[in-house]
Amino acid sequence: MSNYQLAVIGAGPGGYVAAIRAAQLGLKTVVIENQDVGGTCLNRGCIPTKALLHAAEVYHQAQNARELGLEIPETGYHMGRIHDRKLKIVLQLRGGVEQLLKSNKIDLLHGTATITAPHEISVMGSDNGQITADHILIATGSVPARPPIAGLDSPGVVTSDEVLEGDPIDYKSLVIIGGGVIGVEFATFYNRLGCEVTILEAMDRLLPTMDREISQNLGMILKKRGVNVQTGAMVQEITSKDGILCCRFRKGDQEESVQAQGVLVAIGRRPNTESLFGPGIEPQTERGRIVTNDDFSTSLENIWAIGDVTSRIQLAHLASAQGIAAVERIAGHSPSIDLSLVPSCIYTDPEIASVGLTADEAKAQGLSVKTGKFMMAANGKTLIEGKDRGFIKVVCDEETDVLLGAQLMCARATDLVSEFANAISNRLTAEQMRRVIRPHPTFTEAVTEVLEDLEGQAIHAAPKRRLAK
Ligand code: FAD
Ligand code: NAI
Repeated sequence: MSNYQLAVIGAGPGGYVAAIRAAQLGLKTVVIENQDVGGTCLNRGCIPTKALLHAAEVYHQAQNARELGLEIPETGYHMGRIHDRKLKIVLQLRGGVEQLLKSNKIDLLHGTATITAPHEISVMGSDNGQITADHILIATGSVPARPPIAGLDSPGVVTSDEVLEGDPIDYKSLVIIGGGVIGVEFATFYNRLGCEVTILEAMDRLLPTMDREISQNLGMILKKRGVNVQTGAMVQEITSKDGILCCRFRKGDQEESVQAQGVLVAIGRRPNTESLFGPGIEPQTERGRIVTNDDFSTSLENIWAIGDVTSRIQLAHLASAQGIAAVERIAGHSPSIDLSLVPSCIYTDPEIASVGLTADEAKAQGLSVKTGKFMMAANGKTLIEGKDRGFIKVVCDEETDVLLGAQLMCARATDLVSEFANAISNRLTAEQMRRVIRPHPTFTEAVTEVLEDLEGQAIHAAPKRRLAK
């Protein structure tokens, strides 16, 4: 039986990053993975979705090339080849992760791990066997949740797993159940390719946990592009006839239905603890999530948990950060990453990103705040790239001038948000952030502009004001 100082179960962005940090800190480490290294994020999550979205965006730009004075006589797409390119990127990155594990002298076992005793793990798969470890880090991630809707097992009803890892389907019509992050990203992809998309969201708006102005704007934009957005919609039943699926849903007192070639279920993800615990091994859980303390220790001694299997916020960068912090703790170090601030990004068009507090959240905490807003239609780079929508909002403590939060809906929002994350984590004031010269013409100039607006000192006129001249 091999003995390790640390056994990591799951090689997603939580597990493999934790294992590498552990090895760097001198721990003899093994990783056990029952699918492919890279986990959900790399194989059927972050990376493949963004590869699809990029293809759809370029297709859209090609279709609208005339606006740039270009003539592209014919545009088209090939769904199979879009997925081939996606797979190529996934395989390249997967190879990179395997190489990293190897170069850090981390053993990788292929199989399903079951914790059979406090320090013991049995592995079932191509690397059958038993191992022992001083510490066990659970990083088994999450799987798509499936609501108890009649007909959900009908052929043609899929989750993001099947869309991203199954045979490519060029949907001409698609119903998406759930207007959360997965729902709006897939709606963006298929809508850009001309598919008739319907979103059925149970709550009163898309992205219900996002800043209200952002989610309402996204709803309007998607509707304008032809997406049928139904909020307050509770799906009752899915039926199938002659290859066409019909979703019957209730909206208020009304019974309605919508038909499509496919149905994508995206109503959240549940923690994955299948086969993980042998008889008598029962960590404390809450709604399926493994409960951990601030240091990622579970209710069982020397067993730790990170990432989607334990976290309320299910994001790859958070899983990695938690993995690093957990093994630093295990190795007797203080965590090197600020875990209190988690930027979140949504890859719609325009992109959406958020970090820290919204104005409403800050007020609810009893803080007095000042806010700034900048419309990206007055940003040169935005006009150059033909991205005419969007805005950036910032929230600052009124007394101390310390930045508390930022919400962005604009081109490159997912990159711009890091500037605000850096500022908030380091408790920078708006004044300190403003001091920096930002290059011209760039999207980042909007950061200076929104900070100016905090003080009512906008330098570039918003388009409305310009029109009024
Ligand atoms: P996972 O990545 O789920 O990895 C867990 C691994 O453990 C898996 O490989 C699994 O096979 C393995 N495993 C499970 N049980 C066992 C066992 N008993 N034995 C051995 N191995 C086991 N997040 C972002 O930050 N940005 C995005 O753009 C983004 N896009 C997404 C798009 C989609 C469609 C989806 C579904 C998710 C997306 N996410 C995104 C979320 C992100 O993928 C997850 O938050 C992240 O993968 C969680 O990492 P993890 O390491 O906790 O778990
Ligand atoms: P989600 O929690 O973001 O959204 C689920 C949506 O479904 C919610 O709006 C909810 O109100 C709705 N819903 C729930 N039950 C419903 C029902 N029966 N009928 C209709 N609507 C219903 O979950 P989602 O989109 O599945 O994503 C899962 C996780 O993956 C997210 O937590 C997210 O963190 C992660 N992810 C992150 C991405 C990113 O960072 N860009 C991209 C995609 C996923």
